[in-house]
Amino acid sequence: QSHRTLYDAIGGFEAVDLLVEAFYKRVAEHEELQPIFPNDLTETARKQKQFLSQFLGGPAYYTEEHGHPMLRARHLPFEITPSRRNAWLSCMHEAMEEIEMEEPYFSVLFERLTRTAHHMTNTPGDGK
Ligand code: HEM
Repeated sequence: QSHRTLYDAIGGFEAVDLLVEAFYKRVAEHEELQPIFPNDLTETARKQKQFLSQFLGGPAYYTEEHGHPMLRARHLPFEITPSRRNAWLSCMHEAMEEIEMEEPYFSVLFERLTRTAHHMTNTPGDGK
C-alpha cells in the first residue's frame, strides 16, 4: 500500500467534490471570508477541486489547465490576515467533519492545509 495516495485513500474525485462543496458553502456564509470571494463561487470551487486533487497526490488537473499553482502569488491580491486564515481553516475543518473524513487522513490533510494556509498569510496581525 506504500504507493497509495491520500487522494485514493479518501475516495478520489468524489470525495474531493463533496469536500469542496461543503467548504464553499461555509465560506459563502462567513462574514470575514465572504467579502474577499466572488458572489458566484462556481469557478472558484471548480479550481479548488482541481487543485486539491493534485495536492492529495491525484491527477494534476489544476496544472494541466492553469499551469504552476504559485498559490502565494495568486493570493497576494487578497488581504489574508491571521484571522482570515483561521476562518478559512475552520471552514475546512468543518467541511472535513461533514464529509466524515477518516483518520489518519483527516489529521494528515489538515496538518498540510494548516501549513499551506500559514504560507498564504500576507497581511499582518489583528491580534489573533
Ligand atoms: C483562490 C482566499 C488559503 C487554494 C482564492 C481566492 C481567494 C482565496 C479570495 C480567489 C477566489 C476567486 O477569485 O475565484 C483564501 C484565504 C485563505 C486561502 C483567505 C486563507 C489562508 C488557501 C489554501 C489553499 C488555497 C490553504 C490550498 C490548499 C486556492 C486555489 C485558488 C484559490 C487553488 C484558485 C486560484 C486560481 O484562481 O487559479 N483563495 N485562500 N487557498 N485558493 Fe485560496
